[in-house]
Amino acid sequence: MSANFSTIAILGATSGLGEGFARRFHAEGKTIIATGRRLFRLQSLQRELPGLQIQEMDTSSITTLPTQISQLLTTYPDIDTVITMAGIQKFFTYKDPTSTSMAEIQLEISTNLTAPAVIAHAVIPFFLAQNRPTTFVTVSSGLAFVPAPVFPVYCATKAAIHMLSVSLRAQLHGTNVSVLELAPPYVDTALDMEHREDLVKSQGGEEKAVKPMGLEQYLDAAMERFEAPRSGEVAVGFAEMGAGKWREAFGPILGMMGTKG
Ligand SMILES: NC(=O)c1ccc[n+]([C@@H]2O[C@H](COP(=O)([O-])OP(=O)(O)OC[C@H]3O[C@@H](n4cnc5c(N)ncnc54)[C@H](OP(=O)(O)O)[C@@H]3O)[C@@H](O)[C@H]2O)c1
Repeated sequence: MSANFSTIAILGATSGLGEGFARRFHAEGKTIIATGRRLFRLQSLQRELPGLQIQEMDTSSITTLPTQISQLLTTYPDIDTVITMAGIQKFFTYKDPTSTSMAEIQLEISTNLTAPAVIAHAVIPFFLAQNRPTTFVTVSSGLAFVPAPVFPVYCATKAAIHMLSVSLRAQLHGTNVSVLELAPPYVDTALDMEHREDLVKSQGGEEKAVKPMGLEQYLDAAMERFEAPRSGEVAVGFAEMGAGKWREAFGPILGMMGTKG
């Protein structure tokens, strides 16, 4: 499948998985457009990776998002693959209302769920008008299938991304647009840096805490699965188990509804 990716926009490529995939796909000779809020990080990536294109973008700015995407597609009309990578994760408990705020809850939902849904709304008609294979990649998580209660809103957004991806894929079946859901396990990135200490404490200390997969190990596995996805989910490790169990349980019901999803 990734053989069809030629010009890839990675929305959220200033660190972690997005930056990692930018490096991997760039090394395969693909054209990459990397976006994110931190322009200095995009510029330093651009200095390192010849030919890499960059665009500053804040996907949580929902009202300006359609214009930002339209500018992206106008500037780079050869884009055939969009990866909606940008995401944030908040650690809090409803038992202590001071551990979060309305603004934080809204930002987490806007960044992780509203933005990808709005990006799909802007990108899918552009893709459908192309006379070539195109791919829309969403980013969920193993926590879309089994929640970690310390991330209550995060897990809810990722479960919703799974549902959005299944529906989108069913709607676009038979067209030139493929929908892939990247479902990573726990990987060592900056995503949980703000609260990693609290996370370890909540699991009873270093000894007992779940350890993240190394970034390069994850990328090796994900790149291989991108080549020939086994289902709509490009899932690794714990996420592969979650996605597999979901398909096993609900695949037959989807079939009764006339779709594979
Ligand atoms: N690491 C894991 O264990 C794991 C597991 C499952 C799923 N995921 C998902 O993988 C994706 C990438 O996470 P990561 O682990 O690579 O974390 P990360 O290192 O913190 O990277 C997050 C990326 O999202 C971008 N981003 C965040 N808010 C944004 C906004 N409003 N506008 C534009 N870009 C924004 C960041 O760029 P700027 O800050 O420069 O804007 C950065 O490039 C997320 O969707 C995450 O939920 C991660």
